[in-house]
Amino acid sequence: MNRAEKLLSQMTLAEKLGQLTMTAAGYAVTGPVIAGDSTEAIKSGAIGNLLNLVGPGPVREMQQLAIEHSRLKIPLLIGLDIIHGHRTLFPIPLGEAALFDPQTWEATAREAAREGAADGLALTFSPMLDVSRDIRWGRTAEGSGEDTWVAVQMARAKVKGYEGTDLSAPESLAACAKHYCAYAPVLAGREYAQVDISERTLMEVHVPPFDAAVAAGVATIMPAFTDLDGVPMTANKKLLRHHLRDQLGFQGVIVSDYNAIAELLHHRIAADLPQAAALALNASVDIDMMSDAYRNGLPVALERGLVTMAQIDESVLRVLRLKERLGLFDDPYRRGSRQEAPAVLTHRRELCRSVGARSIVMLKNDRETLPLRGRLRRLCVIGPLGDAAVEMGGCWGAAGRPEDRISVLAGLRAALSGTDIVHADGVAFAGGDATGIAAAVDLCNDADAVVLCIGEKADMSGEAASRAFPEVPPLQRALAEAVFERAHARGLRVVVVLFSGRPLVIPWLADAADAILAAWFLGNEAGNAIADVVSGKISPSGRTPMSWPRAIGQIPVFYGERPTGRPYNPKDHFTSRYMDVSNEPLYPFGHGLTYGHFVLSNLVVASDELAEKDTLDVRVDVSNEGAAAAEETVFLFIHDKVATVTRPVLELKGVGKVTLRPGETRTVRLSVPGTELRFLGLDLTPVFEPGQIEVLVGPCADRTQLLLRTIQLV
Ligand code: NOJ
Repeated sequence: MNRAEKLLSQMTLAEKLGQLTMTAAGYAVTGPVIAGDSTEAIKSGAIGNLLNLVGPGPVREMQQLAIEHSRLKIPLLIGLDIIHGHRTLFPIPLGEAALFDPQTWEATAREAAREGAADGLALTFSPMLDVSRDIRWGRTAEGSGEDTWVAVQMARAKVKGYEGTDLSAPESLAACAKHYCAYAPVLAGREYAQVDISERTLMEVHVPPFDAAVAAGVATIMPAFTDLDGVPMTANKKLLRHHLRDQLGFQGVIVSDYNAIAELLHHRIAADLPQAAALALNASVDIDMMSDAYRNGLPVALERGLVTMAQIDESVLRVLRLKERLGLFDDPYRRGSRQEAPAVLTHRRELCRSVGARSIVMLKNDRETLPLRGRLRRLCVIGPLGDAAVEMGGCWGAAGRPEDRISVLAGLRAALSGTDIVHADGVAFAGGDATGIAAAVDLCNDADAVVLCIGEKADMSGEAASRAFPEVPPLQRALAEAVFERAHARGLRVVVVLFSGRPLVIPWLADAADAILAAWFLGNEAGNAIADVVSGKISPSGRTPMSWPRAIGQIPVFYGERPTGRPYNPKDHFTSRYMDVSNEPLYPFGHGLTYGHFVLSNLVVASDELAEKDTLDVRVDVSNEGAAAAEETVFLFIHDKVATVTRPVLELKGVGKVTLRPGETRTVRLSVPGTELRFLGLDLTPVFEPGQIEVLVGPCADRTQLLLRTIQLV
């Protein structure tokens, strides 16, 4: 018998259910506070896991209760949402996705793990792997955008970053792939609403990132709050027990979302808590987060014969094994015992700044408005996000402190020391007071350029932040329009720094602004990162990981649509199009300008014929014909011309990057294993189907900008 089995054999039912329970903790001046229960529950073994506890002191205090006072001395598993950094907040995941750089995604996860672990934590509820194509959904901010291939790379990078090569290392955290699965396509983008998608979309679009996380060794998985085709994910036997456990062999811990087991009653698939608990356990959910459905419901469910003790034991063993893998039995205090060295913190801050700058997507730059050149005498920074350090943190503040964040104003002042920088909010976020607009606009009278900082407040994206109007809020639009009018009348250029947790619908802004930087929420170093790009110290290189709709009615708009039988034709009425707006997004997936000017040529595919065992080897020449050094991102798509099932018009299969000086040309090479050219056939099993495929390479998902070669699959 190993340690976990030996412990299990000594446990009472109450102690077993304690291991299957996770409760939220807070920390008050008087010490840790456990919601709904007391520290006595930890001592008695009735609570085995905690979330929302911050700081090495409190964590140790709670751990001591378990280690020193509970009968079996089983350490607590303590977790927190470390979504885009713990104390050092990095860009929100959607912003970081714009890097298209798995190495950096891994590096920020590693740093977040180090910080979280230094605070005594052992588990993070991250990464979020939901593929989102509907910008109304607020949690779009927490994921990597619209593309499955990108989410798969993100899954691998983040799991590796958080967990490292050794989960027991004092710097490693258990990761949690969430929210399994298909949470993003909630009805009309409304948070927590029903989900109805085809089996094909489920398996092609939403499941692969989770499969990748499992293959990368993710320690835990969290089911989504939502239902799928009438079956809530928390009770979804087919996807949890059948797909994850039986098909993929996932032996890690499935932890419910917050109160999700009790919410099976609201979903109306359980009449009482014992039934809800049984449904979740039968689906193989191991830990009940915050419902207390397992502790209160499973004893009754056992009596009713809805579950067996063997099922409970199975889940307890999985939890104990995770604690063992985390090294908690050998030394429950291995995390949170050492302070991080100052050099580590400096390196992290630098990383945060460079990742921030690289996350910025330059959507527009007319007449080379950016970077701001020459000696600027006076610059005005206008808008409620100009001097809003707190907002820079984005939707998951974790343990970050507001005073560690740099505003745009502070960043620009530090970068442009010779320039007089004046600022006015113009309008506030809340309320309808437009009286400040006039004074703000007057700042333009005596300035050389304007930086207009507008968009969403940080809490307008994230969980429970669906928006029916994913736009710049009306009062800020009024401010912006007044600024454009005055500035342009006086010959000033207006650079818009646009903050948001999602693409916004901004056709009017795209018309009027001279330059637009999509700045998402960049975390602690936001202001410095933005100043680096505005001042030209760094050339922007981010590419949008989501299409930007030009009208709300286009939502969802994404590049990987399947073809229609009546393709768009402006001269034919009966084709797939709107009467009142183009089919195309305002900015396509992958769009993003730099201070260079890139031209792609000589697309070569190594072989005209390709078998499944081969590799698709592609090369393309990239030249920088601009006047500044910059990084170019090259996307490789395929399109299957004739297949037994309709294939998307473009499918992303690879991304390459190259940094070039002015006048320089280099060859970018990309390789795709033949096995990745398989698709799910009629019966939803993978096939490699002979026939022609198009290989398309270029700067974004706009087909008109892609180079094309056609090859034969054999
Ligand atoms: C609810 C969210 O859906 C989930 O992502 C998060 O991890 C938990 N709350 C815990 O905070």
